Amino acid sequence: MKEFYKGKKVLVTGHTGFKGSWLTLWLNELGADVIGYSLETPTNPSLFKILRLNKKITHIIGDVRDEKKIKKIFKKYKPEIVFHLAAQPLVRYSYKYPRLTYETNIMGTVNTFEAARETKSVKVIINITTDKCYKNKESIVGYEENDPMGGYDPYSSSKGCSELITSAYRNSFFNPKDFKEKHNVIISSVRAGNVIGGGDWAEDRLIPDCIRALTKNETLIIRSPNAVRPWQYVLEPLSGYLHLGSVMWNKGIKYGQAWNFGPENKDILKVEEVLKKVITIFGKGNYKVKEENKLHETKLLMLNIKKAKDLLKWRPIYNVNESIKKTIEWYRNYYNNSIDMNDYSLNQIKQYINKAIEKGVEWAKNKGGK
Ligand SMILES: NC(=O)c1ccc[n+]([C@@H]2O[C@H](COP(=O)([O-])OP(=O)(O)OC[C@H]3O[C@@H](n4cnc5c(N)ncnc54)[C@H](O)[C@@H]3O)[C@@H](O)[C@H]2O)c1
Repeated sequence: MKEFYKGKKVLVTGHTGFKGSWLTLWLNELGADVIGYSLETPTNPSLFKILRLNKKITHIIGDVRDEKKIKKIFKKYKPEIVFHLAAQPLVRYSYKYPRLTYETNIMGTVNTFEAARETKSVKVIINITTDKCYKNKESIVGYEENDPMGGYDPYSSSKGCSELITSAYRNSFFNPKDFKEKHNVIISSVRAGNVIGGGDWAEDRLIPDCIRALTKNETLIIRSPNAVRPWQYVLEPLSGYLHLGSVMWNKGIKYGQAWNFGPENKDILKVEEVLKKVITIFGKGNYKVKEENKLHETKLLMLNIKKAKDLLKWRPIYNVNESIKKTIEWYRNYYNNSIDMNDYSLNQIKQYINKAIEKGVEWAKNKGGK
């Protein structure tokens, strides 16, 4: 991937967030020329600030709802690859602020695509949605890419809409039949599971809630101990997005599709099981179950990743124990205050790449033979 991303102009929306910061760090390490476009960092502490990413990239504060500004930025910086992550990403917050959620996740997607449509340099667009975009059947069989879109709550349905927008743009403006003749754009959407990793401080997410309680010696209250989620370490979906970007660019239009990048089935666990592992690794901690969940939340969510495995030769690198360990180690080092977290985070990326090399996955192979 180093050969591929070196010198490429990559625009990341949502670069100040949890996943966006890790993606920006990795792209920067690969030598890409990164342009970030987002609102200010959504949390305090903030991974973006901890990693001092504002000094390493073209850092632009802007709203994806601001059509004029995003178009201006695309025109000015002429990106070749676009990763669209900017979103209101929280289910419970979306019950409180449905309008904001829809405006950001729907019109933000439309504005990003419109800006890309007006900018000839753009060749690859990857829209980051979620496993929650699927019409939920509470099924024990993982969702496949062609399953219908849906979403019970405002967040999930807004991401289902973002998927439908991607497919409408693929049909209407970036149609594979017209590739090279009427346009040069390949567009994909990607659906990850419940992402965990160091540097997330969002509200109402299991790991950040755990960390807040454990570091203050407080008892953690959990709402849905039996909810089943596809947990995965943050670098897993990011390796999928980065690999997909290079495959779309190099191998062409047939890779412009929807892709699931989830964990292996054995790593799809209940909230309470994850919590027990976190407490064991952290070395201490208590929790209480308070099942007074008035807001509907999906109980069972699983992703089928066969397509990404077969066609992209992508696969998860860490199992759930390794993923939790890497995550908790990151926070422990951060709160110990004894190490530069930029170096530490880069080291976590290196460890992940080394394990991927060991496992012989496609994206980690050195094509140059050096
Ligand atoms: N974290 C997960 O478990 C998970 C799982 C699946 C999918 N996703 C998706 O991945 C993406 C990133 O999620 P995250 O966990 O990093 O969230 P996050 O809240 O940490 O980051 C969201 C980013 O979007 C930006 N943003 C929000 N509203 C904006 C607006 N109106 N204009 C411009 N920027 C705006 C924020 O400033 C931030 O940079 C989202 O699209 C989310 O839906 C996340």
